[in-house]
Amino acid sequence: MGRNSTTFGGNLALPVHRWFRYSAGFAADWVAAEVGRRGARRVLDPFAGSGTTLLAAQAVGAEAAGVELHPFVARVARAKLLWTADEAAFRARALQVASDSLALRPDLPQAGGLTARCFPAETLGPLLALRDAIDHHRRGDDVDELLWLALVGILRRCSPVGTAQWQYVLPGRTKARVALAGDAFREQVDMMGQDMSSLRLSQPSPPRARLSESDVRQPFPVGEDWADLVITSPPYANNYDYADCARLEMTFLGDIGSWSDLNPLRRRLVRSSTQQMARYDGETVLRTSPGLSPIRDELAAVYANLAEVRRTRGGRKVYHSMIVAYFDDMATAWHQIRRSTAPGGQVCFVVGDSAPYGVHVPVERWLGILAVAAGFHSWHFEKVRTRNDRWENRKHRVPLHEGRLWVSG
Ligand SMILES: C[S@@+](CC[C@H](N)C(=O)[O-])C[C@H]1O[C@@H](n2cnc3c(N)ncnc32)[C@H](O)[C@@H]1O
Repeated sequence: MGRNSTTFGGNLALPVHRWFRYSAGFAADWVAAEVGRRGARRVLDPFAGSGTTLLAAQAVGAEAAGVELHPFVARVARAKLLWTADEAAFRARALQVASDSLALRPDLPQAGGLTARCFPAETLGPLLALRDAIDHHRRGDDVDELLWLALVGILRRCSPVGTAQWQYVLPGRTKARVALAGDAFREQVDMMGQDMSSLRLSQPSPPRARLSESDVRQPFPVGEDWADLVITSPPYANNYDYADCARLEMTFLGDIGSWSDLNPLRRRLVRSSTQQMARYDGETVLRTSPGLSPIRDELAAVYANLAEVRRTRGGRKVYHSMIVAYFDDMATAWHQIRRSTAPGGQVCFVVGDSAPYGVHVPVERWLGILAVAAGFHSWHFEKVRTRNDRWENRKHRVPLHEGRLWVSG
């Protein structure tokens, strides 16, 4: 559980967690152990992602609440929390959907688009037919959402092209094993049904777990002093574009047509990638934002260093501004987390440091300082593993690590 607690891989063997592979996720069994060990009653996850913390806390008897701003990811988390729905109704409607889909002949999207590049016509037809049959059988109930998840949960498995674990879809690569749409859907429904019934036995009256699709920088719906434990993993300052993490699924569903359709969402998420920096004046924010005052001098030195490396080495990415925006967003987030954490509560951020253009950014230390500035008492960092991110194919020499930032107060 130690080294792998920061990654999602082990969750693929766990009921409900395995319904959708969200590579940004972390390990559910570690969360459950931590909640149990501390005897927490109310657990908050302000960057809830696919709901790992919420399900793990619920499984060990704690009430749980989460916040997630990405609409697709939030919908996945909400659907997973519906494992308590009527299993027989879910299975019965899934059967109807699968059978009706066989008679449908949906229009295929134009050649050249992402969906057409990821799926050949013989796979895409049955998948779109399943999508249309699910829409046709909508009743406005929990089963609708479970069927939606059953479909989005199989898409990458049914694509013969490389669909990398993280957001990037690699249409130039191929997969060794590709599932057929109908088979994959039946298997997914069966697995979900089995998980629903096994969890019903082990958790006959689970405590409430809820997720709100909202911004960590706004007051949380749970109100003040609610959580006695906060377990979360925020975006790292390492240039991952979270808005893009489900582009394949969102394009298939018709939610978006292109990369740029995600721009409104990019602008709203915590800024952890340079793709989010359009029209951002890092210089002014660095000088004037009150939230940054506890780290302003150190941040200014890193900002200047990054701007200089960019200028002298002809880099295009505005990492200097991204770093300012990231910590400005996180400073605001800490104030909201403080507001909803009970006095004496504990917070754990699973997080890693970063080194854009080879310039080291002491992420966990600055986050710790910002937490104390927001009203927490103290922080310490527990390293879990070393990692080595590459930045724009330039191998940097700075050893990076990942671990748990513990904040008390
Ligand atoms: C590292 S992931 C968390 C994954 C989660 N631990 C899991 O196991 O699924 C960070 C999440 O923060 C979300 N996020 C980014 N900006 C946000 C914001 N302003 N408000 C709420 N959530 C945000 C991202 O969409 C992403 O899902």
